[in-house]
Amino acid sequence: MIASNRGPVSFTLSEDGALTMRRGGGGLVSGLSEVARDSDLLWVCAALSDGDRSAVRLAPGGRLDGAGYDTGPLRMLEIAPAVFHRAYNAVANSTLWFVSHLLYNSPFTPHFDGRFQREWESYQDYNGAFALALAEEAGHEARVMIQDYHLSLTPAMLRVERPDLRIAHFSHTPWAPPEYFSVLPDEVAVEILEGLLGADHAGFLTARWADAFVSCCEVILGARVDRDRRNVTYQDRTTRIGVHALGVDGPALRARAAEPDVESHLQVIKEQVGDRRLIVRIDRTELSKNIVRGMAAYREFLAAHPEWHGKVVHLAFAYPSRHDLPEYREYTAAVQRCAKEIEDEYGTDDWDPLILHMEDDYPRSLAAYRLADVLLVNPIRDGMNLVAKEGPILSPRCALVLSREAGAAAELGADALLVNPFDVSGTATALHDALVMPEDERTNRATRLRAAATALPPQLWFADQLRALA
Ligand code: G6P
Repeated sequence: MIASNRGPVSFTLSEDGALTMRRGGGGLVSGLSEVARDSDLLWVCAALSDGDRSAVRLAPGGRLDGAGYDTGPLRMLEIAPAVFHRAYNAVANSTLWFVSHLLYNSPFTPHFDGRFQREWESYQDYNGAFALALAEEAGHEARVMIQDYHLSLTPAMLRVERPDLRIAHFSHTPWAPPEYFSVLPDEVAVEILEGLLGADHAGFLTARWADAFVSCCEVILGARVDRDRRNVTYQDRTTRIGVHALGVDGPALRARAAEPDVESHLQVIKEQVGDRRLIVRIDRTELSKNIVRGMAAYREFLAAHPEWHGKVVHLAFAYPSRHDLPEYREYTAAVQRCAKEIEDEYGTDDWDPLILHMEDDYPRSLAAYRLADVLLVNPIRDGMNLVAKEGPILSPRCALVLSREAGAAAELGADALLVNPFDVSGTATALHDALVMPEDERTNRATRLRAAATALPPQLWFADQLRALA
């Protein structure tokens, strides 16, 4: 079984009451959907929208597959909207996400008061609802793979209900070091760590995040840790810690990127860009993605290198995300402002130095990857970052400018141009170095990047975790 907040599909409700099903988005969902397809894994997720809630009400026991939808085995949990809002928006996204990404330069100003206490109780209830549903659905000794920071309490809660199960938890985000994790109220920090230690196996995307978790267990819980074997012993139970670097299914991605909808975007971009060089970025409009500093770096590059005026275009895709949160709405406005300033300062009648797109369009993203000379991936901190892996798979000559704080840097660092995400001038220099990189060097690097990016595609990544759990 898999459990995650966002599931493989979502529903929208039209005014006449009709329900339309769409595939869900985000790194976690795209990775796991490939694994779940054609298997008998039951996926338990939350109903996120009014459309989802309507679909659940029409499905016996919340089982969407039982209601005739082509979803694979899927149960959606209907959680009271106010509880869901506090658990997902207030705790998971406005607190835990900011802590794990060290967003201390953001609007996140830790302030834990009576209101947070109520929000935390909702997070407990939400995690409890998952534990209950999993306990109901799981067969004897079933293996349950619980995903991400939304569900950090569920492993321990489920263990109490069903000690026979083999439980794994996987974190798709970075993990904060103890000094930063300790900004959480003590009892919250302890509960989260104890929650994850309810699992037999706790998985992370890189050794760096796994080690940070182990340090938190040692410093905050006083747990016994074995760093060489990567395990943590606490209250007479041992949890094994695993590192599983999610990669990309290269052949599947290449096949998707050859489809007609991608080809037609390819023509449009080619017409826009002409024979100019192309710098691409593709992100959710997310504070941790550092889009504003990336644009500032491009601006500094243009200021320092007038010889490139009219000869380069920066195509920036910043897709909508988490718009219920004011921090994200403000960040979206900041990205738009920054793009406009560059356009106003450098644009001419026949040259758009920066083209910003904010409507989600997967085929257009794939077309941009195929044409990229340079891919800019400069997050402040990122669990893995699959954009950095997808680019080199689709463009055989793409130079990668990559933040050293992205999990992907552990595997791709030798062949990317690594940058400190806060160093705007350093990033500007890296953009220039990437543009002038000799042709043979860029293809050699891209070949090695591609090999690293496809080393552990989702199917193997998941099988690896199942093996570790066994
Ligand atoms: C990150 C998280 C995923 C999540 C994705 C999209 O990658 O690790 O769990 O699915 O962001 O976030 P959202 O809030 O839209 O589900």
